[in-house]
Amino acid sequence: MSDHEEKATRTSRRYFLASGFVAVGGILLTGLFVLRSGFLFLFPKSREREYTKYLVGKAKDIPVGKAKEISIGNKPVFVTHLPEGFRVFSGVCPHLGCIVKWKERENQFYCPCHKAVFDNDGTVLAGPSPRPLDEFEVLVEGSLVFVHIRKREPVI
Ligand code: FES
Repeated sequence: MSDHEEKATRTSRRYFLASGFVAVGGILLTGLFVLRSGFLFLFPKSREREYTKYLVGKAKDIPVGKAKEISIGNKPVFVTHLPEGFRVFSGVCPHLGCIVKWKERENQFYCPCHKAVFDNDGTVLAGPSPRPLDEFEVLVEGSLVFVHIRKREPVI
């Protein structure tokens, strides 16, 4: 075998091996992609990731009969402490979207725009609101109170 023939054979072997590696690599990557897609289909992302947890404060700082206002985004949220536990309400009036106020002495929410009144559990007592205040999930973990709000909640 001449030098020229030997070099051509080596080059063709090198080319064959390189194209084999590319083909095997492509098959492996495709397999991994299919496995990943199947795994995500069978085990979708957990529900937890759809929610955001906001710290309200210490439970002892909101005595029964009181409410605490916090801001989430730029919207107010009220955490009320009723005898049966904590409840969390949107501060956005369901009528036309004004911001409600907490009236501690009356233990009620009041909307200054068209005078809607809501009880401390969010129910409509007076005024034009078509429905109660929107309510969010509340979590009490140890001595701390959290609000659990769905990430695409329309009122936040
Ligand atoms: S916006 Fe609240 S009563 Fe109209």
